[in-house]
Amino acid sequence: MNPPPNLNRLARLYRWMEIASFGPWLWWCRCAFLREITGCRRALVLGEGDGRFAARLLRVNAQVEIDAVDASEAMLCALVRRAGPHAGRVAVHCGDIRLWEPAGPPYDLIVTHFFLDFLTGEEVQALAVKLHKAVTPSSMWVVSEFAVPEGWFGRLAARPVVGGLYWAFGWLTGLTVRTLPDHLAALQSSGFRLVKRRAWLRGLLVSELWST
Ligand SMILES: C[S@@+](CC[C@H](N)C(=O)[O-])C[C@H]1O[C@@H](n2cnc3c(N)ncnc32)[C@H](O)[C@@H]1O
Repeated sequence: MNPPPNLNRLARLYRWMEIASFGPWLWWCRCAFLREITGCRRALVLGEGDGRFAARLLRVNAQVEIDAVDASEAMLCALVRRAGPHAGRVAVHCGDIRLWEPAGPPYDLIVTHFFLDFLTGEEVQALAVKLHKAVTPSSMWVVSEFAVPEGWFGRLAARPVVGGLYWAFGWLTGLTVRTLPDHLAALQSSGFRLVKRRAWLRGLLVSELWST
C-alpha cells in the first residue's frame, strides 16, 4: 500500500488555490444537499481538508457531532480552527482512512467531498463495504467529485482538466492515483442507493446524495 499523499504544505494555500482555479463551483457543489442533512446527528467526514464544509455543517446543524478523519495534521488543525465555538462537537482522527476502523455508535451521515478521487477503485470499494457496517438503516452519504462526462466536452475539456489535477497533486503531494475511481459502482455494490445527483460545469463536477 502506498503512503497517503501529504497535503500538510498545502493546508494554508488550499482555499486560495481552489478559488483561483474553480471560483465558487466546488463550494456550490459541496453545499448542494446541505438542506437534506440538517437533521443528522452523528457525521463521519472523510478527507475534509481545511474544514470549510465541516464549519458550515456545524453552524447550520446545532445537534450534529462530527468525526473527521484525514491523513493531514495541518488540515485537521485548520478544521478545528474553523469550527471555532463549535469545536467541542468535532473529534479529529489523523490517519490513513484505508487503515482506520470506525468505532462507537453508527453514523447517520457520511461526507466525502473531493476525497474518493484520492483512492483507487478497489480502495473505494473496500471503504464503502467498511462504512456500510458503520451506518444506520437510514443514513445519508454526501459525495462531491470530479467526473468525465460522455461526449466531446468530456474528451476535450473534462479529461485534460482531471489529468492536469492528478498531475499537479501527484507533484505537490506524492499522490500516486491517476484515474478517477468508479465510485458509483463501488457504493452501489456495497449497499448504498443513489437518491439525487446534480451536475455542474457540464458534468465536470457532480454532487450526489446517497442513502442506505
Ligand atoms: C483534495 S483534498 C479534499 C479536501 C476537501 N474535502 C475538499 O472538499 O476540498 C483531499 C483530502 O483528503 C486527505 N486524504 C487523502 N488521502 C487520504 C487517506 N488515504 N486517508 C485519509 N485522508 C486522506 C488529504 O489529506 C486531504 O485533506
